[in-house]
Amino acid sequence: MDRFMKRIFALLAVIVLIFTIAVFYDKINTTTREIHVIPPVYCMQLRHKFANIASATNPAQFDFKNFTEDLSALMRCPPMSNITQKELNRARLRACCNATGILYYNKQNTAANQNITYETSSKQSYHINKDFYNMLPEDFPWSGRTLSNCAVVGSGGILKNSSCGREIDTADFVIRFNMAPVNDSDVGLKTDLVTMNPSQLLGYKNLKSNPGPLVERVSVYGNSILIISAFNYAANTRLSVNAFKVLHPIRPQQHMVFFSSSYMKNLSGFWKRQGLKGVHLSSGFRLINVALEVCDHVHVYGFWPFDTNLEQQKLTHHYFDNVGPKRGVHAMPKEFLNLLKLHSQGALTLHLQPCL
Ligand SMILES: *[C@@H]1O[C@H](CO)[C@@H](O)[C@H](O)[C@H]1NC(C)=O
Ligand SMILES: *[C@@H]1O[C@H](CO)[C@@H](O)[C@H](O)[C@H]1NC(C)=O
Ligand SMILES: *[C@@H]1O[C@H](CO)[C@@H](O)[C@H](O)[C@H]1NC(C)=O
Ligand SMILES: *[C@@H]1O[C@H](CO)[C@@H](O)[C@H](O)[C@H]1NC(C)=O
Ligand SMILES: *[C@@H]1O[C@H](CO)[C@@H](O)[C@H](O)[C@H]1NC(C)=O
Ligand SMILES: *[C@@H]1O[C@H](CO)[C@@H](O)[C@H](O)[C@H]1NC(C)=O
Ligand SMILES: *[C@@H]1O[C@H](CO)[C@@H](O)[C@H](O)[C@H]1NC(C)=O
Repeated sequence: MDRFMKRIFALLAVIVLIFTIAVFYDKINTTTREIHVIPPVYCMQLRHKFANIASATNPAQFDFKNFTEDLSALMRCPPMSNITQKELNRARLRACCNATGILYYNKQNTAANQNITYETSSKQSYHINKDFYNMLPEDFPWSGRTLSNCAVVGSGGILKNSSCGREIDTADFVIRFNMAPVNDSDVGLKTDLVTMNPSQLLGYKNLKSNPGPLVERVSVYGNSILIISAFNYAANTRLSVNAFKVLHPIRPQQHMVFFSSSYMKNLSGFWKRQGLKGVHLSSGFRLINVALEVCDHVHVYGFWPFDTNLEQQKLTHHYFDNVGPKRGVHAMPKEFLNLLKLHSQGALTLHLQPCL
């Protein structure tokens, strides 16, 4: 009897133990899934690997599945900020390119009657007359201070259903592209600077007599700055300057501004020297460089130039449509690797997964 009871107890103990382990295991598993714990050593290895990637690397050479698995682990590592690295980048960018002082033409960095030269040709120039000068903004939003938290919001399909809108809207300064639609749930509404593509102006005929549609389009962004490349090619100048002359009297509080050609030229040179050769830098990549210079913390959303997400699900080209880019204009995957490099160095934060 005694031995029999002992056996029963032993059996019960084993059952209880197995049960406890099972519950525990499940709990650990759920916690891992919920709070996404990746061992710190693994995080360090991933950061080390991507922080040291050569700037000219083409991700086409990667095993894409392995790459996305590494990235989804990296995205679950706690964000890391390296102030030394940030200051180093800021100093290098200031010395080469100086977005802080010359990102676009304003009354501080431009003189009435100055001739501005083109990005792509030093023979051509555009004369800034008194009227044009008077319509330029006084200075930059970052004049005399740095901006704290900046969000740079690309148009990638990865933002669709991301619920990142609320997080994006908490930034102090939000940069968007090509007058992309704003949407409170996925991309947020706040906008401080938004690019216009000269080709987008082609859709607005007879602007002088019929400014309404363009005015309506830009009003969506409140008083944010509209920035355009008017002095890269002469063909873009007329379109941009016409829109500027029409919009200024109607919306004087919303400045339309022109990228300075020396900033654009110097930034291309800077990245060429790092190995991004034969590449026409995208406006997204350029403005991330601007943010690295003028902001303390740079959060990057919607930059993911591949057609599936980290879980191998199919993505649309943009969060708002599925129209592909012209092939070969930009080298987004190479640019992306440089963003990943900056992320891994603690210089900016890439967001590639839905926001909680
Ligand atoms: C990806 O490949 C590298 C090198 O082959 C390997 O060390 C790493 O563990 C792989 N990552 C995953 C998530 O399988
Ligand atoms: C931060 O960046 C600096 C400059 O690149 C580097 O020397 C240092 O090791 C980095 N610190 C950490 C904790 O990674
Ligand atoms: C940028 O390039 C111009 C020549 O295009 C040069 O004069 C200028 O010093 C460069 N650097 C900065 C920081 O603007
Ligand atoms: C940047 O540009 C501003 C305005 O032109 C100028 O005052 C400043 O000295 C420039 N800084 C550098 C590092 O070139
Ligand atoms: C600007 O260019 C015009 C010719 O296109 C020339 O007459 C004028 O002197 C130039 N102005 C300056 C300030 O260089
Ligand atoms: C987004 O959510 C909608 C509705 O919940 C769903 O139909 C759609 O497939 C989702 N799209 C993506 C890209 O996840
Ligand atoms: C915002 O995005 C969500 C999900 O993609 C979509 O259901 C909704 O219609 C969008 N709203 C606007 C105003 O575009």
